[in-house]
Amino acid sequence: MHRARIASSRLSRLGSKCFESKLPRLQSPLIRAAASFEPSRSRTMQFSTTTTRSTDAKSLQDLYDTAGPHVHPALGRITEGVMTKGHGSYVDYSDGRRYLDFTCGIGVTNLGHAHPKVSGAAAEQCMNLVHSQCSIALHEPYLRLIEGLIPIMPDPSLDSFFFWNSGSEAVEGAIKMARSVTGKQNIISMQGAYHGRTYGAMAVTKSKTIYSEGTAPLMPGVFTIPYPYWHQCGLPRDTPTEDLTAHCLNQLDLLLKQQTAPQDTAAIIIEPVLGEGGYVPAPSAFLQGLREVCTQNDILLIIDEVQSGMGRTGDYWAISESGVRPDILLTAKGLGNGFPISGIITRTEISSKMKKGSMGGTYAGNAVSCAAAVEVLKTFKRENVLVNVKQREKELFSALKAVQADQGVKGLIWDVRGKGLMVAVEFAKNERGKESVPKDMSKRVAQKCIDKGMLILTTSVFEVIRFIPPLNITKEDMAKGCQIFAEAVKEVIREG
Ligand SMILES: Cc1ncc(COP(=O)(O)O)c(C=O)c1O
Repeated sequence: MHRARIASSRLSRLGSKCFESKLPRLQSPLIRAAASFEPSRSRTMQFSTTTTRSTDAKSLQDLYDTAGPHVHPALGRITEGVMTKGHGSYVDYSDGRRYLDFTCGIGVTNLGHAHPKVSGAAAEQCMNLVHSQCSIALHEPYLRLIEGLIPIMPDPSLDSFFFWNSGSEAVEGAIKMARSVTGKQNIISMQGAYHGRTYGAMAVTKSKTIYSEGTAPLMPGVFTIPYPYWHQCGLPRDTPTEDLTAHCLNQLDLLLKQQTAPQDTAAIIIEPVLGEGGYVPAPSAFLQGLREVCTQNDILLIIDEVQSGMGRTGDYWAISESGVRPDILLTAKGLGNGFPISGIITRTEISSKMKKGSMGGTYAGNAVSCAAAVEVLKTFKRENVLVNVKQREKELFSALKAVQADQGVKGLIWDVRGKGLMVAVEFAKNERGKESVPKDMSKRVAQKCIDKGMLILTTSVFEVIRFIPPLNITKEDMAKGCQIFAEAVKEVIREG
């Protein structure tokens, strides 16, 4: 068995002991400190007695007390205190808390925290060449990464690579590329989409107002159509997928006739699985419909796989199932397993229309991040990660469906959906009717999971919890996470 696997199963045994512990709840000084500058969030937490404490917890606490209040207050966080270590599917905090991580740092550490091979490759690269600057010279990991990505592209036409640091930058680059090569301005994005926090990315983000509230004017020339998700279409919950697809394609047709003519429209940007908008896979027929419209009208199709890509859905790319050819494919997050790297991938026929020097960036395609990403690709093969995703996907769905069917849950889970290990549970929330879960259900369930030793996130403006466990998670850890979730849901419903 691989060393990391052995370590991870040993840790998972330790973890389960800590969750089952009946020790009294402790209130750490660190949490008290946190409460002093986040007074609205009073919580109790159950701590592990078996975790590694920071060797210098006292000075870390002093640091937290003194530097913590200087962290920008607009940065939201789901836990307090200092995370000191990540190992496989677990993270440790300086006060002894240990959590099973079903967030992967929002879909990033997909091969588990501090994967020994990936971190090892980065460390080795650090001792050779940290930075070469892509406008000065190419380095070996840059080229190796291209070599590793070419065979897994969802379409062989995707043969031109530009690496950057974040998902938002990839979105910016794609918009720039689309405008530059088409000579057209307008971009169509989806209601509910999330593409990032920089100005162009914010402009095409339509999942929550908080991301751009009070920051106008945003980049102009952005138009939206609904994503085939019943909420976004204002249609009943049981609307058949074909009808949602037809509705959205019809809206696109109208948009191109009424608001942005094809000759003014540079690109359509879409997440093949809506991420921050609720973890909703787009029907293949919808993606195929977009492809057709783009091809007919010389509009570029930008597929944003920043969250859904790199194996998250059980294939390297979520778009593959539809057979749709992206004109531009965006990747980030899982590509570096925590080392910052993103990719804008297109075909040479498109990229060659841009002037030399129009793309670049100080840290674009950093050597250490590229070396980590090369090792990520190797690890997928060596550890049969995609096979694990398929196996764990079945277990996750069956556990969540069992919660949905549980009598104690009283039919208050409307939906269990997703692909691979990008899965969501949507709770019933009907403003006017009777069929509603207790107020703030998803937030309360997430908080209860955290109290029980598992990090998990909500998503969207609806009552949705998302599951983003590591792609190489063990069967035992998956079962443990599902158990924690089931208990949390039932407890919140009982509390009302
Ligand atoms: C689909 C999608 N696109 C773009 C981004 C922005 O990526 P980043 O946060 O790395 O800028 C995200 C981040 O969550 C995302 O999910």
